[in-house]
Amino acid sequence: MDIVFSEVDHCYMPKTPFEKMALKDISLTIPSGSFTAIIGHTGSGKSTLVQHINGLLKPTSGTVQVGSFTMKAGQKKIDLLHLRKKVGHVFQYPEHQLFEETVEKDICFGPVNFGLSKEHATKRAKELIKVVGLDASFLDKSPFHLSGGQMRRVAIAGVLASRPSVLVLDEPAAGLDPEGRDQMMELFSTYHKDHNTTTILVTHHMEDAAKYADQIIVMHNGKIKMCGGRELIFEEAKKLEELGLGLPNTVRFLQELKEKFRLTSVPNQFDVEGTSAFIADLLRAKEE
Ligand SMILES: Nc1ncnc2c1ncn2[C@@H]1O[C@H](COP(=O)(O)OP(=O)(O)O)[C@@H](O)[C@H]1O
Ligand SMILES: [Mg+2]
Repeated sequence: MDIVFSEVDHCYMPKTPFEKMALKDISLTIPSGSFTAIIGHTGSGKSTLVQHINGLLKPTSGTVQVGSFTMKAGQKKIDLLHLRKKVGHVFQYPEHQLFEETVEKDICFGPVNFGLSKEHATKRAKELIKVVGLDASFLDKSPFHLSGGQMRRVAIAGVLASRPSVLVLDEPAAGLDPEGRDQMMELFSTYHKDHNTTTILVTHHMEDAAKYADQIIVMHNGKIKMCGGRELIFEEAKKLEELGLGLPNTVRFLQELKEKFRLTSVPNQFDVEGTSAFIADLLRAKEE
């Protein structure tokens, strides 16, 4: 399902003293099956933007198209249940939304609500508990007796259980340690590849954007500041730093190397292996 925003504004609490224009003139396309990262400072409008994809928020003006669903400012209701079956939304701290007595019931809640039989939903719960890195013994436990990391995995299994074709991840690794963050990101990357989902990741980490995304959208003050492939991180490194967005370590290192040694060009490397290979080549060339 392609997702297309056309000239979208979003205003919170319009015509009150608290009026806030959180999105201004957003036009963008997220191709079906792509992995898009949305990056920007706190308050730049990332969550507001992605909450338009499952109809949680409506545009104040403009149009949001998600596959065959169109949400237009001022238009009457659309079939939200149908849309939300297609768009899975992992909120920041998704574990706060667990509420059932057992892990199994929590995972089954979405699919049953969308009309799947209990039997089929239970089957999915059994599969998904493994996908998120836990074993079947967790299914009978109370979600409230688990660790924070385990609770988050259960909540994510609950979103995946509806087999969404679009997966919106709003800072899904917030609050996890670096190892937990890597595991979480690998889980989503594998799921994305295996199921050909359209994945939209909101993140603070340029490193994750560089590693996983085909398309990067940089938000600033309710507007799209930049949009492009990951080479954008190299081409616009200065601008991104000016916006206070931390560059991946490899990018910063290669940029400094280029300046210090007046190299004509450095490769667009995002991983440590590729960066070390480039340095090794440089040293070898110097010896020869
Ligand atoms: N429910 C709300 N009511 C009023 N203002 C809001 C609400 N949610 C967000 N905002 C404001 O809208 C702007 C964008 O917020 P948000 O989309 O949450 O940004 P981000 O996800 O990038 O941190 C911020 O200035 C924020 O304070
Ligand atoms: Mg947010």
